[in-house]
Amino acid sequence: MAFRPLSYALGAEVLGIDLSKDISAATFDEVHQAFLRYGILLFRDQHLTREQHIAFSRRFGELDCNERSPDTDPQYPELIIITTRPRADGTPSESRYTGRLWHSDLCHTLTPAMGSLLRCIERPDVGGDTLFSNMYLAYDTLSDGMKKLLEGLHGIHARGRQYDTMSTERVAFLKGLRPVAQPAVRVHPETGRKTLYIGEKVKQFVGFTPEESRPLLDFLNRHATRPEFVYRHQWRKHDIVMWDNRCTQHQALGDFDMTQIRHMERTTIKGTPSGYLIEAA
Ligand code: SIN
Repeated sequence: MAFRPLSYALGAEVLGIDLSKDISAATFDEVHQAFLRYGILLFRDQHLTREQHIAFSRRFGELDCNERSPDTDPQYPELIIITTRPRADGTPSESRYTGRLWHSDLCHTLTPAMGSLLRCIERPDVGGDTLFSNMYLAYDTLSDGMKKLLEGLHGIHARGRQYDTMSTERVAFLKGLRPVAQPAVRVHPETGRKTLYIGEKVKQFVGFTPEESRPLLDFLNRHATRPEFVYRHQWRKHDIVMWDNRCTQHQALGDFDMTQIRHMERTTIKGTPSGYLIEAA
């Protein structure tokens, strides 16, 4: 097994591994260490069944069962399906716009995700790329003054979805959820490093109005997604990209022909508890 860096900021391709085979404890440990080091791992040409995708993901921890996600297959609740493929009745999928804002998975819950493994089943002719940014670098490169300011701040994370693509029942369900506040700076539980924990789903800071929060949020979002902190992944069929949600964020680009099929399946590994519920505005 070998690791080939994907960009200056983050990511490595894992060479010489077949995830459909049994992975020894020693090999798994090497993969886990690389995951902590690079933030993103790319596994190419992995011809996996859904069961194998789930089983490999489970080696890292308990999986989320996506009770809040659209387009799941009841037989595989561990998989989030992100697809432009219309439903059996011909209506558009609800999941086709998933991930269009910069975010970290499950940031709007009290157990934000530890990791995610996204498998490319079908891709459009061009585009449909995903961007990732390194939130350690984003934090480390702030001034001491800004770090101090952020230390006590909590961002309120809203769901970023467009309600007009959803069924009335889902809209009602989502509107009934109380927003979650997360610290703007989190300590990675395994590496001990500080990371910036914001994104485009943060609408305001606790104790600040949305208008007061906006300039700071705009600055932080711009800063965190500077080209030198970002890796852009161009998908190939049978790719699996695994990312550490505790020190990266990502964005699915709409840079493709939406009449073509882009079909992705994701497992999400649960993280440690973080944040608190606030009253709905
Ligand atoms: C997501 O997991 O947020 C979606 C990523 C993608 O579809 O590229």
